[in-house]
This record gives sequence, structure tokens and C-alpha cells, in this order.
Amino acid sequence: MNIVEFIKKVPKTELHLHIEGTLEPDHMFKLAKKNNIFIPFKNIKEVKEAYNFSNLESFLKIYYEGSKVLIKEEDFFDLTWAYALKCKEDNIVHTEIFFDPQTHTNRGINFEIVINGIYKALQKANKEFGLSFKIIMCFLRHLSEKSGFEMLDHAIVHKDKIFGVGLDSSEIGNPPSKFQKLFKKSIEKGFLTFAHAGEEGPPEYIWDSINLLNVKRIDHGVQCLHDKILVEKLCKDKTPLTVCPLSNIKLRVFNKLKEHNLKKMLDKKLMVMVNSDDPAYFGGYLNKNLIEIQSALNLSIDDIKTLIINSFKASFLTEEKKMEWISKV
Ligand code: ADE
Ligand code: ZN
Repeated sequence: MNIVEFIKKVPKTELHLHIEGTLEPDHMFKLAKKNNIFIPFKNIKEVKEAYNFSNLESFLKIYYEGSKVLIKEEDFFDLTWAYALKCKEDNIVHTEIFFDPQTHTNRGINFEIVINGIYKALQKANKEFGLSFKIIMCFLRHLSEKSGFEMLDHAIVHKDKIFGVGLDSSEIGNPPSKFQKLFKKSIEKGFLTFAHAGEEGPPEYIWDSINLLNVKRIDHGVQCLHDKILVEKLCKDKTPLTVCPLSNIKLRVFNKLKEHNLKKMLDKKLMVMVNSDDPAYFGGYLNKNLIEIQSALNLSIDDIKTLIINSFKASFLTEEKKMEWISKV
């Protein structure tokens, strides 16, 4: 079996995926029409042309605009169901997804509509083809901590569905310290914590996510290589870093895949794994991310196995399930 075949067939998990980032342009158009929502594009071609981002901020503007077509519970269900089918296609057996409730509640959509649509679709996928899942609610870091506390109150009501809380959106200028109290309360209420850090922002944001927010994983984390002591700590603690190669190119964190630092991270024995982030916007789901980064960095089959096994290890599957899947890899 060649390496591409291996990547496609091997069971995998995904740990960094924003469900709103799976909204494909044709689905966006369908929902805009159904819900009578204006979107500033004439056709799918125009949407795709707009996906030419210069940085994280320029992407987020379009991403939040696109999310406005999601109105009803069935819209969140259909969005999530479409992603679940992609998981099946890519042989993803376990996924831990993010959702951004403030993107929706701030335009008058009930929290219940959002969480119920997402949860019901994942439950159906679990029943029909065994996809296991966790749901992580992200706070938008460009908004206030007060707004985050309001979301946490909703999450407490839905503790049976929401496993953890994360931090995403515009990184630079919105440091982890802004949310220290919110994360402390989230932990007290029984949520595990995660944070995007070191995507565009400095290594200090990774330090602060660990020290102030007590995170279980760092999302992205690619800027850690600028800080030798941080790298030593991440290695020692086996802190997972959920790297997203195609995202990093689309948002110009690196100029091209050949310049991506994933291989360097692997060689330093950092606990890295590959994810798709916002696949509808960045040009590919998990298999495509793995196939393209393998080719660009000439990763060996052992590198690929390490990435996939790391991902199982860093997941919140039971130890028994982790072992079962890892033995299959
Ligand atoms: N929200 C969706 N994708 C994101 C990313 N790559 N970084 C920060 N926030 C996000
Ligand atoms: Zn992300």
C-alpha cells in the first residue's frame, strides 16, 4: 500500500475543527435562499474568489458573514451531518469539534437551536456509523469576558452535551489573560479547557494558555519554536498541539507548505497532530491536509503514523478505546 492509500484508509481522529468552518459555498447559497438572508456574493465562483485571505482577521470577517445563513435547528443539524459524512469518507472514527455560539446568539439565534442541531446530528452519526465525538464551546476572544460568562451560563445548562470550552477568533491583542476568570469558573463547573494560541500570536500566549487557563491542548501552537524553553516544557509535559497545515497556508502563517514547521516539530518530539480547522474555507478536509503536508515535507510513513497515534492519544476517548484504535493503526 502506498502512503496516500495508507492515509486514506487508516482510522483517524480530528481534534481541531470548527463546525461553522465546514459550511461549503453551495450549502451557504442554499441556506441563504431558504432563509432569505442576503450574502454579498452573486454566485459560488464569487464566494470562492473571496476566499483569498491575507491573515486570520481577513478570514474571520468572511467566516462570520457566512455563518449568518444558519438560522434554524435543522440548518445546524444539516451542517453537522454533512461534516459527519465527510468523517465517514475520510475514515475519521472520532472527532472533537468546536462551535462558536456567540456568532449566532449575537444575531438573535437561541443557544438551544445551535447546540441541539449540532448534537442531534452527531448522535445520529454515532448511531448509524459509530462516529464518536465531543463538543467544545469556544469563546470569541475579540468579545468581552462578560459575554463569555453569559455563554458559560448556557453551557452549564447543556453540560450533558458540552465537554469543554475553548478560545478562538482574533488572537493578536486578545491575550489569554483577558479570560482568566472565565476559564477558572469553567473549570470549577467541570469543563475541560482548550485555547487557540501561537497561531499568529507570540509564544507568550502559549505560556499564558497553559499557566493561566490550564488548557489540556494548544490549538495550532506553531509559533512555539521561537521559544526554546517553551519547546522543552511542551515536550516534557507532552502537551498536544493541534496543527492545521492548509489553514496555516491560507492564512499566511507560512508562505507555502514546504516552509511549514511540522517536520521540525515532529523531530523535536513535540506532541503534534494534523487537523483541518475550517475545511470549507481552507481547501480540504483531514485526508487532504495529511496528503498535502506529507508530500510537501516528504514525511515518512512513520511520521504519518506518529501524527495519527498522537491524535488518538491526545483525544478524550477512553484509554481502552484509544488502545483499540492505536493497535489498528
Ligand atoms: N475560528 C475559526 N477558525 C479559526 C482559526 N484558525 N483561528 C482562530 N479562530 C478561528
Ligand atoms: Zn481553529
